[in-house]
Amino acid sequence: MKKILLTGVNGQVGHALQNRLMQYDVVALNREQLDLSDGAAIRRIVQMIQPDLIINPAAYTAVDKAETEPDLAYAINAIAPQILAEEAAKLNAALIHFSTDYVYDGSKPGAYVENDLVNPLSVYGKSKLAGEDAIRAVNLPHLILRTSWVYGAYGKNFLKTIIRLASERDSLRIVADQFGAPTSSESIADAVVSLLTPWQPQNASQTGIYHLTNQGKTTWHGFSCAIVDEYNQLAVSKNWPPLKANVENIAGIPTVEYPTPAARPVNSSLSNSKLNQVFKVMLPDWQAGLQQVMQLVKL
Ligand SMILES: NC(=O)c1ccc[n+]([C@@H]2O[C@H](COP(=O)([O-])OP(=O)(O)OC[C@H]3O[C@@H](n4cnc5c(N)ncnc54)[C@H](OP(=O)(O)O)[C@@H]3O)[C@@H](O)[C@H]2O)c1
Repeated sequence: MKKILLTGVNGQVGHALQNRLMQYDVVALNREQLDLSDGAAIRRIVQMIQPDLIINPAAYTAVDKAETEPDLAYAINAIAPQILAEEAAKLNAALIHFSTDYVYDGSKPGAYVENDLVNPLSVYGKSKLAGEDAIRAVNLPHLILRTSWVYGAYGKNFLKTIIRLASERDSLRIVADQFGAPTSSESIADAVVSLLTPWQPQNASQTGIYHLTNQGKTTWHGFSCAIVDEYNQLAVSKNWPPLKANVENIAGIPTVEYPTPAARPVNSSLSNSKLNQVFKVMLPDWQAGLQQVMQLVKL
């Protein structure tokens, strides 16, 4: 049976993965146990554990803060994945790593495919792209899974923020001109587990970058309305308090009216065709992902 080293287990994806990997021999580590800003510690721990597979959902994910902390963002998002890849290669092990829609600039009118031109607009996006490049430069079997707009019942995320804001305020103003696929940590973890059987690490043609998101697309405004709608449908049965803001009180605004330190791509839509063709894995549409997560939300 495969021995798996899983990083970032207190993160959204790490937590969902840990719950699903019980049947494997998993060493699941949080930041205190494996600090990815400490290269020597990464090398020591990987060699101590001797995994067959490293799954690395840990990352510096504070997109706006990264603009003023580029060194830390690069240390965790670029240098650490390189070291994980180098140490895995020494053991003939494989690596599953996560990347982001923010490697693109969003100027493509349709859904991005994996070999489209990358052009990150932010320090975070650049640091994640540097991590992808660093892994690809090491000769080892790997999957780099680019996902988008991650949320879940566990952790800090957009869904939690919208529920909080809608319970505090009568009305909300949410960006309505950025398009992408909200992707639940549950869907990501299910898909990763589904990949573990068809993925043959020794088959070099399977190594590479894959888009892995819930299907369909919406805007942050559309996502907010769906969250509030789902909440209202479940509120009575779950004994949740009523919200102050309802769907009709959520206004769509242009990005220029909500300036952020880091620029975001206008179009984050990622085609999952390659994932489906190579591994026969397809994630549910984003509305089904949301329904699943709302059942798990605890207030
Ligand atoms: N979140 C999104 O919207 C999004 C979108 C596209 C792609 N992605 C990518 O998807 C992957 C999973 O993201 P996520 O949403 O699960 O992220 P997350 O919830 O922010 O979790 C990231 C985890 O990384 C850990 N971490 C941060 N610095 C670390 C360090 N120095 N050493 C060890 N661990 C450290 C954090 O630890 P603490 O819990 O101690 O802080 C946290 O548990 C990442 O590669 C991310 O770049 C995310």
